[in-house]
Amino acid sequence: MTALTLSTAAAPGLRADAIVIGVVKGAEGPVVAPGAEAVDKAYDGKLAGVLETLGAAGAEGEVTKLPAPAGFKAPLVVAVGLGAEPEKDAGFDAEALRKAAGVAARALTGTKKAAFALPLTDAADAGAVAEGVLLGAYSFDTYKESAAASGRGARAKNGKGPLAEAALLGGKPRDRAYKAAIERATAVVEELNRARDLVNTPPNDLNPEAFAAIAQAAAKEHGIKVQVLDEKALVKGGYGGILGVGAGSASGPRLVKLSYTSSKADKHLAFVGKGITYDSGGISLKPAGHNETMKCDMSGAAAVFAAVVAAARLGLEVNVTGWLALAENMPSGSATRPGDVLRMYSGKTVEVLNTDAEGRLVLADALWAASEEKPDAIVDVATLTGAMMLALGSRTFGIMANDEAFRSAVHEAAEEVGEPAWPMPLPEHLRKGMDSPTADIANMGERMGGGLVAGLFLREFVGEGITWAHLDIAGPAFNEGGPFGYTPKGGTGTAVRTLVRLAELTAAGDLG
Ligand code: BES
Ligand code: MN
Ligand code: ZN
Repeated sequence: MTALTLSTAAAPGLRADAIVIGVVKGAEGPVVAPGAEAVDKAYDGKLAGVLETLGAAGAEGEVTKLPAPAGFKAPLVVAVGLGAEPEKDAGFDAEALRKAAGVAARALTGTKKAAFALPLTDAADAGAVAEGVLLGAYSFDTYKESAAASGRGARAKNGKGPLAEAALLGGKPRDRAYKAAIERATAVVEELNRARDLVNTPPNDLNPEAFAAIAQAAAKEHGIKVQVLDEKALVKGGYGGILGVGAGSASGPRLVKLSYTSSKADKHLAFVGKGITYDSGGISLKPAGHNETMKCDMSGAAAVFAAVVAAARLGLEVNVTGWLALAENMPSGSATRPGDVLRMYSGKTVEVLNTDAEGRLVLADALWAASEEKPDAIVDVATLTGAMMLALGSRTFGIMANDEAFRSAVHEAAEEVGEPAWPMPLPEHLRKGMDSPTADIANMGERMGGGLVAGLFLREFVGEGITWAHLDIAGPAFNEGGPFGYTPKGGTGTAVRTLVRLAELTAAGDLG
């Protein structure tokens, strides 16, 4: 990952390959953002005019490259749009800083060192810029043929690796708050980028067993207690949902429990992640055109895993248990059939009407297992329904909950960290659509409101009296389009930062 430093150096004398500055969208054209005064001065105060000539307006996502002024050690200036000017006396919005830094980092792919002269008014701003840089500078090239051939990787060969070094100018390297902000950003984004790697890893390499082994190794490294239930243990424990979904695959399912505990904690959060390492649909097979990206169906488990490790690395004063419900959903002679009835871990029976509604089955078992510990709250994260994508599009996740105040708190946390999310209801009338003539409940209900139906199904497997929220990340988990802001193509790591923020808020006693 990109190496980050806080620097008090002045832009002109700095040895770097590029200097990044901000441009604001002013009423009468582009305005150079604070932080870039020295650069503007070297252009005789005419930088805004130069940028305007080059077509810059200061819009979000905009990148303008220009030669550095005479006397500068760095050869290149990269001007990134910050969007509208903030209100008088208000600082820049954290998300605007994150996005601009991420856009710049992406524009600097293949560059060794860049100095970021973006507006920093406090440590929080430095943290936002740091996050943007580290998130934007992500690339996944493990499987590029030339990587193996050159030995040093495709990056070394074509010089197109991510930005190697970023110095944040105007940062205060001796200030504790600034240092803490950089450390936090580094820990969170390192784990988040690892979640992206897991999502991007092809499903022939990342099966439930492989995922569990990675979780085990990371847990060991960070002092997290880990327990892996393999098929035998799942049978013994009666985890009919996870077993039923994994039954058709040559790679058996796993339930991974990660327990991070702090001696100073008085609250306990449980995170539950859907970890379908590949979703073919099972016997209710998905048609071509709907299965090419289904390696992303373990994004929820990847997010939970990353968040628990980040909480441990940050030493948060809260107990956090992560549950990864891992299975591969495949059709075969041993697969669960539409019409089969599963006896779930909770004891309830489920008639499987559609084997492609598998996420709720693995989650049901993990939610019940999480409930047995009576945590203060449970949050599950899942690429659960295409319906949620239809409702909210590909960049926003839906939040459902059995407690309105908690749903709002989760939404606020998501907004705060820059993860677009929206509250969704759990309408009671949709429950009867899942009535089954044979079992306690069916795994499918009305087609309309499919995301909410799935939420109602999950609610049945949350222990009595436990506060619970469900994040349906089917839309934002995997970016099928081009990169934007600090979001790459492919796995995005969505929900990691929301979960970490929830853990921080809980540790601080600001949540429930
Ligand atoms: N993993 C899918 C949901 C999904 C779709 C995630 C697209 C990401 C992108 C899930 O397991 C699924 O297949 N859901 C079905 C449920 C239906 C059969 C009730 C769906 O949404 O069509
Ligand atoms: Mn499915
Ligand atoms: Zn699925």
